[in-house]
Amino acid sequence: MKLLIDDANTAAIRRLYDYYPIAGVTTNPSILAKSGRQPYDVLEEIRSIIGSDADLHVQTVAGDTEGILRDAHAILRRLGDNTLVKIPCVPEGFRAMKKLHEEGVRLTGTAVYTPMQAYMAAMCGAEYVAPYVNRIDNMGFDGVAVVKQIQDIFDNNALECGILAASFKNSQQLLELCAYGIASATVSPDVIDGLFSNPAIPAAVDAFTKDFEKLTGAGKTMDL
Ligand code: G3P
Repeated sequence: MKLLIDDANTAAIRRLYDYYPIAGVTTNPSILAKSGRQPYDVLEEIRSIIGSDADLHVQTVAGDTEGILRDAHAILRRLGDNTLVKIPCVPEGFRAMKKLHEEGVRLTGTAVYTPMQAYMAAMCGAEYVAPYVNRIDNMGFDGVAVVKQIQDIFDNNALECGILAASFKNSQQLLELCAYGIASATVSPDVIDGLFSNPAIPAAVDAFTKDFEKLTGAGKTMDL
């Protein structure tokens, strides 16, 4: 499973890219609004941090097909032709996806709450679909089960579309999808940091250090 950052905080993106094998960044209009910066200012900085080859998913905002097409072309012009254009899985969005797929544009179907939205986006040529795990949980359904069902639909219908699972609030949701072999997940910095927040982990590492220092002296490491 590829891990992406679902955030536009450039300091957090730089830090996480430095520490972990991160495959890209996703944003949506709400994430951009949270940054408090103008959309292309922050997106161009993100592109420069992650490099021109990394996956950057950027969402359209217009509500009608023609507007979505204009948004998509502007995104590609400003951020590079390999940028994945995220389009909401609604009727106008599907219509735009079909046209953009014919142009060879890389597409991510987003705002996915139901398996048939994902199926339709895949049929329209989306490279990824983004089901919202935690938001589905909050509606009283099982977000992880919905993602697994989408994967089964893709496998059983030979659809070459990957899942970019989104909207996570905890490690368990991510763990279950990683174990199922889901292609990718996009996760906020706090959830990524939380993957390793078990106090047993630093306690074990501290005990190793203390034992070694008893043998060799304070501050000593294997670089003796
Ligand atoms: O990009 C959409 C998705 O990641 C939403 O996440 O945390 O707002 O439910 P969240």
